[in-house]
Amino acid sequence: MNLILLGPPGAGKGTQAKRLQDTHGITHLSTGDMLRAEAASGSKLGKKAKAIMDAGGLVSDEIIIGMISNRIDAADCKAGFILDGFPRTTPQAESLDEMLDAKGLIINYVIEIVADNDAMVTRITGRYTCADCGSGYHDQFQKSAKDGVCDSCGGTRFNRRDDDKEQTVRSRLAAYQEQTVSIITYYRNKGVLKSVEGMKAIDEITAQLNNIVGQRKAGIEGG
Ligand code: AP5
Repeated sequence: MNLILLGPPGAGKGTQAKRLQDTHGITHLSTGDMLRAEAASGSKLGKKAKAIMDAGGLVSDEIIIGMISNRIDAADCKAGFILDGFPRTTPQAESLDEMLDAKGLIINYVIEIVADNDAMVTRITGRYTCADCGSGYHDQFQKSAKDGVCDSCGGTRFNRRDDDKEQTVRSRLAAYQEQTVSIITYYRNKGVLKSVEGMKAIDEITAQLNNIVGQRKAGIEGG
């Protein structure tokens, strides 16, 4: 099964995609994570991408589309994938359709995590991850059981993203409104759009998503 998760920065796409991956064995593909890995490698492309990300803008469609096309071909995507952060513009959505067509694949569902933009600044500026295993936490909403210790691996070092500063978050939210929101209509018109309520608790949203994916797996819905 192939899914796209849509929603503004901070809606919980990454949080939920990791859970869907663990529960349903479909691979989480985050263009943001891919770009951050490229930036950490110090490559020319990575340096260019980092400057754009730190300003809250969008990296060029051409770079992103090539990156995703290669990644979808990998063996771990054969059982399905979850796209998180892609597509983000109408040209990206159209290119994805062409790319999947050529590979003989389809998107089963595009799931919008509907969230209130104003609340996203608090969510993002309070977010941090374990430096060793990447598990995600939040100062207020998702604390580790023992302060300063990762629940998953026991690590004690944590990272915060360079683009999670308030001013950059506001630019990212503006980019979402200007360049990404229109693709919700694009997918609604194709009849593949589903919505979940992103302002609920993390576990409740996971339950809504599992319900959608579970129905599809059980063959209750076509597609
Ligand atoms: P990317 O990494 O994709 O960032 P984003 O879309 O801004 O999304 P986030 O990762 O910030 O949010 P999320 O929805 O995953 O939220 P999360 O689950 O972490 O992209 C970064 C940059 O890369 C872009 O700005 C752009 O420059 C570039 N880029 C990437 N893809 C691109 C593309 N296709 N084209 C061009 N450029 C591209 O949750 C946030 C926090 O809230 C966490 O701490 C979590 O614990 C907490 N939380 C989650 N859900 C809840 C809840 N229900 N209640 C309370 N707290 C919650």
